[in-house]
Amino acid sequence: MMIASFKSLHFLLGLFLSLNFLALAQEQNHFIYHGFTGANLHLSENAKIHPNGLLELTNTSKRQIGRAFFPFPFQFNTSLFNNSRSLSFSTQFAFAMVPEQPILGGHGMAFTISPTMDFTGALAAQYFGILNSTSNGLSSNHLLAVELDAVPSQDLKDINDSHVGIDVNSLISIESAPVTYFSDEEKENKSLTLISGHEMHVWIDYDEVEKLLNVTVAPVTRTKPTLPLLSTTIDLSSVMLDSMYVGFSSSTGAVASSHYILGWSFNRGGQAQSLDVSKLPSLPPQRKSRKKPYLRILVPAITAIILLVAISGAAYIIRRKKYEELREDWEQEYGPQRFSYKDLYKATTGFTDRKLLGSGGFGKVYRGVLPSSNMQVAIKKVSHDSKQGTKQFVAEIASMGRLRHRNLVQLLGYCRRKGELLLVYDYMPNGSLDKLLFHNDTPSLNWVQRYKVLRGVASALLYLHEEWEQVVLHRDVKASNILLDDDFNGRLGDFGLAKFYDRGANPQTTCVVGTVGYIAPEVTRTGRATTSSDVFAFGTFMLEMACGRKPLEPEQSAEKMILVDWVLDSLKIGDILRTGDPRLEGNYVVEEMELVLKLGLLCSFSTPQARPSMRQIAQYLDGNATLPEMPLDGASIGLMPASLEEPGDFTLSFHRSNDYSAHSFSSTDSILSCGR
Ligand SMILES: *[C@@H]1O[C@H](CO)[C@@H](O)[C@H](O)[C@H]1NC(C)=O
Ligand SMILES: *[C@@H]1O[C@H](CO)[C@@H](O)[C@H](O)[C@H]1NC(C)=O
Ligand SMILES: *[C@@H]1O[C@H](CO)[C@@H](O)[C@H](O)[C@H]1NC(C)=O
Ligand SMILES: *[C@@H]1O[C@H](CO)[C@@H](O)[C@H](O)[C@H]1NC(C)=O
Ligand SMILES: *[C@@H]1O[C@H](CO)[C@@H](O)[C@H](O)[C@H]1NC(C)=O
Ligand SMILES: *[C@@H]1O[C@H](CO)[C@@H](O)[C@H](O)[C@H]1NC(C)=O
Ligand SMILES: *[C@@H]1O[C@H](CO)[C@@H](O)[C@H](O)[C@H]1NC(C)=O
Repeated sequence: MMIASFKSLHFLLGLFLSLNFLALAQEQNHFIYHGFTGANLHLSENAKIHPNGLLELTNTSKRQIGRAFFPFPFQFNTSLFNNSRSLSFSTQFAFAMVPEQPILGGHGMAFTISPTMDFTGALAAQYFGILNSTSNGLSSNHLLAVELDAVPSQDLKDINDSHVGIDVNSLISIESAPVTYFSDEEKENKSLTLISGHEMHVWIDYDEVEKLLNVTVAPVTRTKPTLPLLSTTIDLSSVMLDSMYVGFSSSTGAVASSHYILGWSFNRGGQAQSLDVSKLPSLPPQRKSRKKPYLRILVPAITAIILLVAISGAAYIIRRKKYEELREDWEQEYGPQRFSYKDLYKATTGFTDRKLLGSGGFGKVYRGVLPSSNMQVAIKKVSHDSKQGTKQFVAEIASMGRLRHRNLVQLLGYCRRKGELLLVYDYMPNGSLDKLLFHNDTPSLNWVQRYKVLRGVASALLYLHEEWEQVVLHRDVKASNILLDDDFNGRLGDFGLAKFYDRGANPQTTCVVGTVGYIAPEVTRTGRATTSSDVFAFGTFMLEMACGRKPLEPEQSAEKMILVDWVLDSLKIGDILRTGDPRLEGNYVVEEMELVLKLGLLCSFSTPQARPSMRQIAQYLDGNATLPEMPLDGASIGLMPASLEEPGDFTLSFHRSNDYSAHSFSSTDSILSCGR
């Protein structure tokens, strides 16, 4: 009796609770937030709400997770009451991914529908804080996610470094696409970069009758495009349980960005209400303008007054001097490529150190925005003796300006002052390759990116050697002269040492130029650069990319110190893969890795004739030809000439570590040494 009444009490209580719950859920079939001030979201791990209502899922710390879920579940697949059962839903949210550095960010975030808000054991990086390697793919997950992923992970078959994917129970997307939106005005698809730091909208709509899941993305300034980015047929009836939570999960990995949600609208069963962009909270000020506002006004004001009082009289003279240039009659034909010093001065705010991108053996490089066109440029300042060979130099600059290839950094023009030459190039937002390859603890370039860079640079060198009107020798191919554009395409830059000569002519030069470790042995003997010596340098570069280290590392043990020797020794013992960059953690295509290492060795033959041409190299890398068997004759490979009969004026000997360390230059600085 007691037991029975207790049971029925329990039953009644249960019924009451579930009715209550249902009522609550029904009341809350939809919600809309413009900012999250006072919102009772369920936040976990790193997620927090800023005072202005901005929801921050992660900051730029590495390998973090941040989640925010609507605190109550929605009744999706419940069979309890027919009228409330619906798998259809619609949501719109505004987000931004702001990387720490202009171009490196990630990992990404996922709009998630899950039976639980407890994600214990889930991992950061490519798992977005919702799954891990064991739970990935289990149908018992009952998980639907739409991922916004800024880093391609090979093991999850990601397609692109800025993509949207639809994930069901697994982070291997059932469908994905690079982030683009359809512009209704221009009737074309426009590409978006997730980690641009710009605010964007996402709409996700599922219709139970059509069984269609649509995902649409657009910049926050646009209205919803009429064509979705993804439109996928799926039946969610086996995925959605009765009660499901909706929210966001976000993660960072080896690279990180701050991931924000600015507003969110959701409706289970109907169309989500549209967000009002004007009501969204603003993002935190980005690094550029971090100065306190009063300083921004006060400092220039005081400076202006002081300047005005102190130098108003002398201003005119100083002004003239400041922007003074050298300009001669013969330069008129190069007029279009001539920049005024005043423009370059303004572009770099007077060549301040704040705009310094780097400095090397040949000068300093500044970042700037040209006042006339608002175009971002890199400006290289080289000291130059104006009396000596200027005419030829400028003629060569003009030739370089006419080179056009998508894997070359475009030279836009020049400017000449007393003792100084300024070269203006396209600005490459992702900086130079050596910084990503050698200066980080973690690999920031994966194998797919590395291989793409190698193919790109090979095609650029092929263009210089064989496809342009003259033969162009770059003479300084190395990782630090390869820059990365917004899409991580490798672009060969720094033509400071390039030489032009007519096809069929014999290049004559008595200067040894290049960089220690990349200079072909015959060049050190004869001082004559050829296309084969560029091939040699490219071979060294291929080994660097595969092994993730510099050609010479005196701090390494004797067997590993000279990279090419170590790779050759490893090939001989049949374990060439041991030289692969350990930071890749084995995530590479074995055939490609072997090809790059062997081709690198082939280019390192000390006899120039034995090296392949750039055309052959491009064919091997594109998979259009098979690499010949490697002769394993050690004497014929390497940085050292087989014999040094003609030591010439300039000898390099760095096969013994103490000799090497005696050199005053480092292996990353370009050298220019002329015999007398
Ligand atoms: C990110 O947030 C975590 C936790 O709130 C904090 O410990 C860390 O210092 C933050 N990192 C940055 C770069 O602000
Ligand atoms: C639910 O729908 C089924 C068939 O569609 C019907 O047989 C059943 O009576 C309905 N139940 C309720 C509670 O409306
Ligand atoms: C993976 O996640 C599940 C829960 O989703 C957890 O039980 C399991 O321990 C995790 N596995 C690992 C290896 O962390
Ligand atoms: C734009 O992208 C959509 C979806 O990816 C595709 O179906 C469509 O053909 C594209 N339209 C144009 C004009 O490229
Ligand atoms: C999804 O997109 C297709 C194609 O534009 C459209 O016909 C369909 O109505 C859309 N469905 C939803 C649920 O928005
Ligand atoms: C969802 O509901 C349908 C109809 O009631 C049922 O056939 C299906 O098994 C349910 N799905 C899940 C995952 O429970
Ligand atoms: C990503 O895909 C888009 C469109 O197909 C393409 O323009 C872009 O270059 C791709 N990015 C990378 C890194 O492959």
